[in-house]
Amino acid sequence: MTEETTNHWALTRDQRDLRARARALAEEVIAPRAAEVDRTEKYPWENVAALQENGFTGMTVPAELGGPGHSFLDAVLVVEEMAKVCGVTGRIAVEANMGAISAILAYGTDQQRRMAADFVLAGDKPAICITEPDAGSSASMMTTRADKRGDRYVLNGKKHWITGASVSRLHLIFARVFDDDGTELGIGGFLAIRDETPGLSFGRREPTMGLRGIPEMEVLFEDMEVGQEMVVMPPSGWRRGFGDLMNAYNSQRVGAGTVALGLATGAYELALDFSKKREQFGRPIAEFQGLQWMLADMSVKLEAARSLTYRAACSRGVGTDGTTGPFPDPAMAAQAKIFTAEASIEVVNQALQTFGAAGYSRRNPLERMYRDVRMFTIGGGTAQILRTVVATRILDRKLPQTRDGYVT
Ligand code: FAD
Ligand code: COA
Repeated sequence: MTEETTNHWALTRDQRDLRARARALAEEVIAPRAAEVDRTEKYPWENVAALQENGFTGMTVPAELGGPGHSFLDAVLVVEEMAKVCGVTGRIAVEANMGAISAILAYGTDQQRRMAADFVLAGDKPAICITEPDAGSSASMMTTRADKRGDRYVLNGKKHWITGASVSRLHLIFARVFDDDGTELGIGGFLAIRDETPGLSFGRREPTMGLRGIPEMEVLFEDMEVGQEMVVMPPSGWRRGFGDLMNAYNSQRVGAGTVALGLATGAYELALDFSKKREQFGRPIAEFQGLQWMLADMSVKLEAARSLTYRAACSRGVGTDGTTGPFPDPAMAAQAKIFTAEASIEVVNQALQTFGAAGYSRRNPLERMYRDVRMFTIGGGTAQILRTVVATRILDRKLPQTRDGYVT
C-alpha cells in the first residue's frame, strides 16, 4: 500500500516516521526469516529481540512507568507492518503492546503496573488465558477456579489454545473466584510468572494449520497459589469482573484484526507486483481485465478494512466509572475484526490465485499467508460471536446465548 493511499487517515509526521521505521525493520530483518519460522515452528526469539531493540514492545506503557506512551493506533501501525511480512511477528507485536498488558496497565496496582511494564519493555509478550476446553465462545462459563485461602488464592483448572504460553513469562489468567466459605464471588484476573509461580505448568502444544512459530498451549493450574499482589482486581468488583476484563480485551481484538489486515496487505502487494511481471499470451497478466478487477476488489476490501481497524483503534468505549474508558469501543472493535478477518481471508485467497501454481508452492509465501490468515475469524472471538456483540449494541438489548437466558 503506498504512502498516498494510506495517509487519508491524516497520520501525523511522527506516526508516518514510526511506520517507516517499522517497515524498514520488517522488510530488512523480519521478512527474510518468515519462511524459516513457519518451517521450524520455533518461536522467533531473534525477532522478539529486534522488536524490543527498536522500541516496538511496551509501546503503550506510559512515561511514568518508563515507556513511550504510544496510542493503540501507533501500535496498530507497527503490528500491520510486521504482519505484512510475518504473521507470527505481527501477533507477538500485538501481545507485547495490547491485550493482557492493557488490562494490567488499566486495572493493576502500582506494583503490578510496574512489573508488567518492565516485562513488556524487556520484550516479554504476556499471554492471556481465557479459553477452556468446555468454555470457548461461552467464555463466561469458565470453570478454572481461584479459591480464597486467607489472603492468598489457590487456582485449579485448565486453559487451552493460549498463544505464546510457555514462551511468555507473564500470564494473565481469568478465573472464577470463590470465598473462603465456598461462596462464588465472580470472575477476576490472576498473574502468574513462568518458572516462578509454583503450580503453573504447560500441557500439550496444538499442531496448528498456520501461525506455526508461536506455540498454542494448554496451561494447567494445579494448586497454583498466589498472594494478593498477583490479583488483578476488576474495578467494578468480582461480580462484574468478567465484563471489566473483556472490556480490556477489546484492544487485543483490534490487534488481532490488524494482523489479518497486515497479512492481506502483504499478499496483495506481492500479487500486484507479480501481475506486472508474469507474462502469458505475450503480455503481463496485469493487462487482463479478469485480473485487474480482482486486484481492484482486493484494494477496496483492504481500504475498507483499514478504515474500520484504525477507527476502532482510535475509539474509546465506556469505562468502569461510566465516562470514556481507556479501551476501544466493544462494538467498533467487533465490527472491525469481523470485516477485516473475513475480507483478509478473501484477499489472501485472491492473491494466491493471481500467482497460479506458484501460489500453491511452498517456495512462495502465499500458501503460508493463506494458512496464517485463516485463523482470524476464530481466535479472539469468532466471527459469529462478534456479530452477537454488534447486535447487542445496535438492538440495544442483552442477547444471552444460553437456553435459559431467553426465559424472562
Ligand atoms: P466454540 O465456541 O466451540 O465454537 C464452535 C463454533 O460454534 C464456532 O463456529 C462458533 O462461532 C460457533 N458458535 C458458538 N457459540 C455460538 C453462538 N452463541 N452463536 C453463533 N455461533 C456460535 N484463547 C485464549 O484465551 N487465549 C489465547 O491466547 C488464544 N489464542 C488463540 C489462538 C489461535 C490460533 C486460536 C485458533 C484460538 C485461540 N484462542 C485463545 C481461543 C479462541 O478464543 C477460541 O477458539 C474462540 O473463542 C472460539 O472458541 P472454540 O474454539 O471453543 O469454539
Ligand atoms: N467489551 C466490554 N464488555 C463486555 C465485552 C466486551 N468485549 N464482552 C462482554 N462484556 C460484558 C457485557 O456487556 C456484560 O456486562 P453487563 O453484565 O454489564 O451487561 C458482561 O460482560 C457479560 O457479558 P454477556 O454478554 O452477558 O456474557 P455471555 O455469557 O452472554 O457471553 C461473551 C458472551 C462475552 C462470552 C462472548 O460474547 C464472547 O466474547 N466470547 C468470546 C470469548 C473470546 O473472545 N475469547 C478470546 C480469547 S483469546
